Amino acid sequence: MENFNFYAPTEFVFGKDRENEVGSYIKKYGGSKVLIHYGGGSAVKSGLIEKVKKSLDSAGIAFCELGGVKPNPRDTLVYKGIELCRSEGVDFILAVGGGSVIDSTKAIAAGVPYDGDFWDFYGKKAQVEAALPLAVIVTIAAAGSEGSRSSVITKEDGMLKRGIGYEILRPKFSIMDPALTQTLPAYQTACGCTDIMAHVFERYFTNTTEVEITDRLCEAVLLTIVKEAPRVMADPDNYDARANIMWAGMVAHNNICGVGRQQDWNSHALEHELSGLYDVAHGAGLAVIMPAWMEYVYKHNVMRFCQMAVRVFGCQMNFENPGATALEGIRRFRSFLHSIGMPINFAELGAREEDIPVLVEKLGIGEGKLGGFMELDRNDVTGIYRLAAHSEV
Ligand code: NZQ
Ligand code: ZN
Repeated sequence: MENFNFYAPTEFVFGKDRENEVGSYIKKYGGSKVLIHYGGGSAVKSGLIEKVKKSLDSAGIAFCELGGVKPNPRDTLVYKGIELCRSEGVDFILAVGGGSVIDSTKAIAAGVPYDGDFWDFYGKKAQVEAALPLAVIVTIAAAGSEGSRSSVITKEDGMLKRGIGYEILRPKFSIMDPALTQTLPAYQTACGCTDIMAHVFERYFTNTTEVEITDRLCEAVLLTIVKEAPRVMADPDNYDARANIMWAGMVAHNNICGVGRQQDWNSHALEHELSGLYDVAHGAGLAVIMPAWMEYVYKHNVMRFCQMAVRVFGCQMNFENPGATALEGIRRFRSFLHSIGMPINFAELGAREEDIPVLVEKLGIGEGKLGGFMELDRNDVTGIYRLAAHSEV
């Protein structure tokens, strides 16, 4: 195991109706003028935004609002949010929604105290050194942004999707009411479950040895999704299944599963080019990319893939032919994703094989390599996109 620091100071406020307490938590964390930031309408339609306003009113906290965050959140709205916060004297931002709303909130929070263009952070031209405090009411179990240090924004001009990660961007508190996720369309629920599994696999496939504790934590999250996702697909109002998935989504990505080990993240890099170019859901893109990535790299450490196959997907270990066990695990993973309604190839996702050179170009590897579990050059990523284009169950 490698040396590490783990400091994830977000306060999680979990359970039924906890959103009604938001006003008192903002007070606790020093907010006096709040920007309520939300998405395309689900939080208004469900009555959640009204509840939030009521709670802020009764805590005596002033607020303004900015809705309209799109999935794969855009830089254009971030600029608006920054201006609004400055003109209204906002000192605290509340995200009400999923990963897209939370990431847009983090970008605004970093942009307000910065003199330059906030995109400098995402273009790796500047470091985030200050940010407004922020908090979350999460409405979909997926990105894990409610507990993470990351934010992913798409630059509308060129649809360039880029991410950053800073400790200062972790939410002060995150309210997690599983009942809020009961209004999700089945497709979004499945996308979320896929993203949660992907966040674990990005950490699970490592070259670091002797990491039993984090391996076992990863497997616990994966087994939870394998059990609970079908339950929630069959019965969307199943609170307990929703609750387990919601907490799994947080555990998968606040890095408790990833400390002390090298991580990969190449499936996410390849996926971000897909959701950037076609504006598809991040989880759906991962369902197409991640099993293809696995097929491409499994020989790098066959036994690690066998471990996944046996412990997570219940495969019988074939000691004569470990490669067969590894491939069977990957096959079961892909067919699980398909069974919950995820696309598994380019056609089902709405991507085009002839765009592969564009996807590879946008990754910006040049003559270099992407680091991680197995280093990947341009030919490798082309090979993975090709496998993903034609996958079958
Ligand atoms: O906009 P509204 O109307 O709210 O609809 C949203 C949106 O269409 C809808 N939705 C959310 N909660 C709902 C609901 N509909 C009904 N009832 C509810 N309770 O779901 C759709 C998807 O929402 P979105 O926020 O985009 O989903 P998700 O949480 O999957 O976030 C995806 C974004 O997060 C990024 C992704 O790249 C993508 O841009 N990621 C962020 C990460 C992070 N910050 O740590 C890590 C991830 O790997 C990921 O890259
Ligand atoms: Zn993700």
